[in-house]
Formats: sequence, structure tokens, C-alpha cells
Amino acid sequence: MGGVPLAEIADRFGTPVYVLDEADVRARCRTYRETFPDADVLYAAKAFLCRAMAHWTAEEGLGLDVCSAGELELAVTTGFPSERIVLHGNAKSPRDLDTALRLGVGRIVIDSPGEIARLAAAVGPDGHQKVMVRVVPGVSAGGHEKIRTGTDDQKFGLPIADGYAAHAIARILGQPQLQLTGLHCHVGSQITSVRPYLVAVRRMVGLMSRLHEQHGLVLPEIDLGGGHGIAYCPGDQVLDLTALARGVRTELAEACGRAGLPVPRLLIEPGRAIVGPAGVALYRVLSVKHTGRDVFVAVDGGMSDNPRPALYGVRYAPRLIGRRSTAGPARVTVVGRHCEAGDILATGAELPGDVRPGDLLAVPVAGAYHLSMASGYNLVGRPPVVAVRDGLARLLVRRESLEDVRSRDVGL
Ligand code: LLP
Repeated sequence: MGGVPLAEIADRFGTPVYVLDEADVRARCRTYRETFPDADVLYAAKAFLCRAMAHWTAEEGLGLDVCSAGELELAVTTGFPSERIVLHGNAKSPRDLDTALRLGVGRIVIDSPGEIARLAAAVGPDGHQKVMVRVVPGVSAGGHEKIRTGTDDQKFGLPIADGYAAHAIARILGQPQLQLTGLHCHVGSQITSVRPYLVAVRRMVGLMSRLHEQHGLVLPEIDLGGGHGIAYCPGDQVLDLTALARGVRTELAEACGRAGLPVPRLLIEPGRAIVGPAGVALYRVLSVKHTGRDVFVAVDGGMSDNPRPALYGVRYAPRLIGRRSTAGPARVTVVGRHCEAGDILATGAELPGDVRPGDLLAVPVAGAYHLSMASGYNLVGRPPVVAVRDGLARLLVRRESLEDVRSRDVGL
């Protein structure tokens, strides 16, 4: 990967370890900019953020979607231009808002009516802040029920239905220090069809049209969030980005034409599709157990560094690396080292029949929502991140040591 043998990385940095291909991340950023030349592409930091990632995405001309003071401060202190950052969150803390105002983020996305007065007060009578409003267009999309956010039975945003969003927007217009630049939506994640995005555009422009009639409001921006689906296993369906770009452009032009509105500037917020396929997780096999029913291949990581199979039933395709095997393929269950039966990394994985302790396994497509969702379960410490480029490997994020874990424990 990136000109470096993965087995060498495992030996040098230990396992489990995440490996990130810098050229691949940068190429994906460029593909987005080329596919959506008239749009602002904001990388969704929740997928994975470290200083290098902030640096690469800034250099490639992307903006950033953050949802906490932590993500925001890390990006800005790395030099990410704050005016290219958008702050999200259904429950922004006072610290989130204060940090956003202090660092001068480009947009704050309002997610609930209660936030309007709170934000206006924090901005102060002489201040000024650009805001967007997250609306819920009533579109069901996404790879799993836990990551579907386009319908009004979930916690995010303001439903367009029943005039809920319009009512909140009228209140925003009454706050002179808040400048509403547009509508935002994020209908779900790991979406593999263009259609939900087009339905969302139609309904959002419908709302823009009503706002124009009622308030004479012309909104210059529309943000369609992220959610672009990628392949975790060979043969998985993916979202066609070219079709998405073409479809959204046409739908926006037609819907705005019907409403007599100028076409707003498009913003998109891909996370997974930029960093997911550029990352690989490496594990060392610790034990192989043949029971009557199954073969359990246990590795030195697990649900603490990848909770996604347990949370969303996601399938991965681990591969043996570092040695050649002539053994025929076997169907195995790759499990972790944690204290529960649900600690499974891959069911029905195809590995050589002679897989044994000491072997190395690589799990492709581990760049997004792995380390960013890693936990401290069983106090094993979170894995490091190593970047590869042009035949060189360098440490980006160091391993969380037992001393790190112990040093936070200050009471008795
Ligand atoms: N914008 C907003 C407002 C979001 O909430 C999200 C993801 C994104 C953009 C980026 O979505 P992406 O392009 O990465 O799909 N932990 C889950 C995914 C949760 C996504 C949450 N929001 C997983 O591992 O699949």
C-alpha cells in the first residue's frame, strides 16, 4: 500500500494498526472537486480526523464539516481556514458554540428551534454569523436504520412537513445578527441510489419557493450533506458520483426554474467516500478455534476499534497478508478479543484453510468510522494510524498506551 509492504508496517508499528494511503485520500478529494466543479465539497470530519487529514483536505481545496469543539479546534489549530468550516450538531454545547464563534466558522447549521435564540444571544447584538437550517425532507435512505436521517421519526433537523421548518425560519429572520444563507439536509449514510437526493432537492426547493412567496427570501445556498455509499466487499453496490452530480444539477435547475428562483450554490459533505477506501486495518491472529460448527479466527483487535459489524451488521472481507498459502479456502468467523459474543469483525470470511496464530490479516475499507468510533472497552488502548506515501510510512497518530489509559484515572 503506497509502495510499502503491509507486513513491514505491522512489524514496525505493531498491531492492530490503521494504515492510510495519503495519495488515495488526495485523489478522492480531487475526484470530488472535478465531479462537482461548481460546488463546495466539505469533508465530514466525523468519518476520521487527525491533523494530517485536516491538512490534506485543506490543501486539496475542500471545506470541513465538524460537529464538536474538539473536531473544530483540531482543524483550526492545524491551519484549516475557519471560514471553510461548517458546524453541525443536534445538541451543540455552550463550548461548541463559543468555540465556533471565537474561531469564526463559516456557517453554523441550526438543528432545533431552541438554538435560534441561544445562538443569537451568544453572537451578541453587534455580532454577525452566517447560519443554515437543517431540514428533514421526508426521504428514507441509508444503509441501515441507525444511519437514516431523512424522515421525521429521528432526532435531527426540522421537518419540512406541517410547516415546522418554515416556522423556525421565520424566527431566524427576526434575528438580525443571524444571516440565513441556505437550507441543509443529510438524509442518511451509505446511500447507493441517486433518487433520495433528487427527492430531497425537490422538497427543499419547494420550501425555498414558499419562503420566497412569504418573506421575499432568496437563499443563495443548498447543502445536501453526505452519505455517498462505498463498497466494503467486492461486488457491493456504490453510489455513482457522476450520476449524482448530473442528477442534482438537472433537478436543481428544473425545480428552481419552476419556482422562479435563481439556482443556489451547492454544498456537499462526503466523509466515508473520501477516507473509507483509503484505509486498511491490520491485525495479528492470536488464536484459531475449530468447533463442530465453525472456525473462529481471533485477532488482537475487535469491536473496540471497529464497532461497525456489531452496530450495523456491516460485512467486511479480511485477507491474509505477509505469507503465501497454498491451502484451499475456508469459511471462517473473524472475531475480536473482547469479552462478548457479539465481538465479531467478519462472518463468513473466506481465508486460506491453514490460517494460524501469528498470521496477519488486513481488513480493507477501514478508513471511515473505525478509529473515530473506537472505544476504550477492556482498556486495550486505541490503535495508531500510519500514513503511507511513495514507499514511506510515517506515524500520524500514536498508539494509546496503557500508561495513557492509567494516567486519566486520578481518583481512589
Ligand atoms: N453530513 C452530516 C450532517 C452527517 O451527519 C454525516 C454523517 C455526513 C455529512 C457524512 O456522511 P458520510 O458521507 O460519511 O456517509 N457511523 C456510521 C455513519 C454515521 C454517519 C453520521 N453522519 C457508520 O459507521 O456507518
